[in-house]
Amino acid sequence: MELKDKLVVITGVSKGIGRALVDQYLESGSTVVGLGRTEPKISNENFRFITCDVRSSSDVDAAFDKIKSEYNIPVSIMINNAGLGYFGFIEDYTDAQIHQLYETNVYSIFYTSRNVVPIMKENEYGHIINIASTAGIDAYPQVSAYCGTKFAVRAISESMYKEMRDYKIKVTCVYPGSVKTDFFRNSEGIDPHDYMLMPEDVATMIRQATQTPDNFHQVGLEVRPLQPKGPRKK
Ligand SMILES: NC(=O)c1ccc[n+]([C@@H]2O[C@H](COP(=O)([O-])OP(=O)(O)OC[C@H]3O[C@@H](n4cnc5c(N)ncnc54)[C@H](OP(=O)(O)O)[C@@H]3O)[C@@H](O)[C@H]2O)c1
Repeated sequence: MELKDKLVVITGVSKGIGRALVDQYLESGSTVVGLGRTEPKISNENFRFITCDVRSSSDVDAAFDKIKSEYNIPVSIMINNAGLGYFGFIEDYTDAQIHQLYETNVYSIFYTSRNVVPIMKENEYGHIINIASTAGIDAYPQVSAYCGTKFAVRAISESMYKEMRDYKIKVTCVYPGSVKTDFFRNSEGIDPHDYMLMPEDVATMIRQATQTPDNFHQVGLEVRPLQPKGPRKK
């Protein structure tokens, strides 16, 4: 897809991968709308931030009402990036943590998709990116709640791509390993470090996936750091 003058919507743009994605699409000449709770400091006439907690379907619907009234072009790329993790033993998760994880990481995909998919189907054009995790491929101890959400994102994405490929809509699920962002703030014992993937590189991979030829569909993008614990001791 040619990115110039296309409308790109990204959730969770205050920092990390989402923020890096905003920069990449603005550099490519796209118009970017960020949906989130915390506004990033970006002064670019092609960027618009709409306050939106993606856990709330009414917030998401209201954000898309604004988008539809302010732009006379349809959303070409929808990136479901907003997400978070809580970690611990199964018996220790609180109700609030479980609800926040599933509402943010999983339910929000339904809320955004039902606002963009009907128009994408009508136009037979569009690309949806869902950011899962390698925790959506392999499960780990003390990561049950987060793994559950990301396995769900993987299943939802697979269903979506099979539903939509005949409408010429691409759906790509992204599976990053550890990325050096603020994501680990709720984890004990993992601090971001330079052997993790860099958010800018993950954003580049995603942006490039949205620039492939029309009949070239990357269904899943798994990416991991090469030496996750640093150089091998010789
Ligand atoms: N970092 C990793 O190692 C890693 C690996 C694999 C997958 N991922 C996934 O990549 C995505 C981005 O994570 P990241 O590493 O960039 O983390 P991050 O730096 O913590 O950024 C997360 C973003 O999501 C937003 N967000 C969280 N809850 C939200 C809500 N209810 N409504 C709107 N926005 C919300 C945050 O906004 P606020 O500033 O308002 O909180 C923030 O902008 C997530 O889906 C995560 O699961 C991350």
